[in-house]
Amino acid sequence: MAHSDHDHHEESPIFLPYRPRRNRASAAIRSLVRETELSPQHFILPMFVVEGRSVEEPIGAMPGVARLSIDRLVETARKAADLGIPAVALFPALPDPLKDPFARESANPNGLLQHAVAAIKSALPQLAVITDVAMDPYSSDGHDGLLQEGRIVNDETLPILAEMALAQAEAGADIVAPSDMMDGRVAFIREALDAHGFTEVAILAYSAKYASAFYGPFREALDSKPRAGDKKTYQMDPANVREARREALLDQEEGADIIMVKPALPYLDVITTVQAAVDLPVAAYQVSGEYAMIQAVAEKGWMAKDDLILETLISIRRAGADMILTYFAMEAAALLR
Ligand code: PBG
Repeated sequence: MAHSDHDHHEESPIFLPYRPRRNRASAAIRSLVRETELSPQHFILPMFVVEGRSVEEPIGAMPGVARLSIDRLVETARKAADLGIPAVALFPALPDPLKDPFARESANPNGLLQHAVAAIKSALPQLAVITDVAMDPYSSDGHDGLLQEGRIVNDETLPILAEMALAQAEAGADIVAPSDMMDGRVAFIREALDAHGFTEVAILAYSAKYASAFYGPFREALDSKPRAGDKKTYQMDPANVREARREALLDQEEGADIIMVKPALPYLDVITTVQAAVDLPVAAYQVSGEYAMIQAVAEKGWMAKDDLILETLISIRRAGADMILTYFAMEAAALLR
């Protein structure tokens, strides 16, 4: 029988000098050539805390995430630590009567957040606790800075943020994380911490934080949407990346210890740019809306959730993030086991 076209290939293969597929031939080889590593040690779990006991209030747009009372919060933090996750980031959900235009409750040494920090540090001293510094969870205006005559005033906000950071440090926070985007707040907070002896409390600066629709579910979780207006006079324009570089460099100069980019997946180029610009470690925040999108398509059965989780997280790492805040931290850690 004459040779068919089919076995022609086996006898004289096409000469190709480069065959990149050789490095994908087996799981063993793929693991040898993998450029980026993803492991639970890169994750920070954001958590929402609420007053009460044995409380677990589901958040509509964040299936699988709940506001937890302190007892449940500590239980969950323990599970996270057991999975190899080194840090949690805490956000308090306060009832309206505790909110005012000056976010006064944020400086209360006996406030909900302060109690939550102390409870986790006493139960799990090895777990790093990160606290958010911004007025919005405490503000009756729902803004990160002080609202005066329809404008967010920068310099008047700084002392409020410093008081908040001090209360958090006093409670035992390892890292305070200003997410407010006021100018000069990193230096201002650093100075206040040092003046009160908290030289070892680190600052994780939300340096490039964009005015993003992806925060929607988070604002539902804390009932913290701006009562009027938007956050565009302080959070960044999604169109800009050079400005992110500048914000990151300023925060590095002002004494930040870690620089953050937020959101993550729609801003991978920003992560890469910022990582190249600074000498500090870089964090990225896979925010509530990124979480919600993945949960929603998974519920629809349109894409495979586990694969989406791992692919988005490795992409964020590949872009240049050393660490990732993600509501999937525990799920991802379990998948990586
Ligand atoms: C508040 C803050 C926000 C987030 C973290 N800190 C919301 C906002 O700026 O409106 C968003 C996190 C998320 O969406 O998961 N300063």
